Amino acid sequence: MTPTSPRHFHFNGSLTGPWRVTRQVALRGDPLPAAPCLVVGTADQRPGVWHLQGITSNERYVTRAERTELVARQEGLGRVASTRAALIPIRKTAAWWALTQDERRDVLEGQSRHIAIGLRYLPAIARRLHHCRDLGPDEPFDFLTWFEYGPDDEPAFDDLLAALRASPEWTYVDREVDLRLAR
Ligand code: HEM
Repeated sequence: MTPTSPRHFHFNGSLTGPWRVTRQVALRGDPLPAAPCLVVGTADQRPGVWHLQGITSNERYVTRAERTELVARQEGLGRVASTRAALIPIRKTAAWWALTQDERRDVLEGQSRHIAIGLRYLPAIARRLHHCRDLGPDEPFDFLTWFEYGPDDEPAFDDLLAALRASPEWTYVDREVDLRLAR
């Protein structure tokens, strides 16, 4: 995956940029250095205050029926009304990665209802999942999750996060930083 790939996204905590960082909370593990702004895109704009990167990929867990439902309900990023966003980098434990594919699916959906719960928040919340794990040993997170929504939908987004964080899947999360943004 070259740095210019359209699937390879860079997140630069920086001094200026289109997204203003309104809040940063480290839920598990170390925080990120404080940066006032965030630049997101396929161009690598280092050096900034910090840099994270991830690539979009094929889905691992969704069934055909779930995908049909997701595609029918979800809306894309970049909506004019989406003036709020969240970047939530996540790392999962070695125990998670030691599971087999069917065991991970069972935790994610069978036990945690991640997809069923998430579906209830579409189309208000738009999202994109980036994978970092296979980019190399220096990546501090396994996933960069990105969400966009309008200001009125932030409480619903917080409810969604509370439900997911209380689920069995989150017992496998060992680093999580929650950054909120506005533009
Ligand atoms: C993965 C849906 C919200 C974190 C997934 C997958 C789906 C999904 C379908 C599986 C992708 C695959 O098959 O590979 C949704 C929907 C949401 C939502 C519809 C509603 C907005 C969230 C939130 C978080 C989150 C709020 C918390 C940060 C993740 C992570 C993964 C994931 C980390 C990767 C899991 C793994 O591969 O181990 N989500 N999600 N999601 N989601 Fe969500």
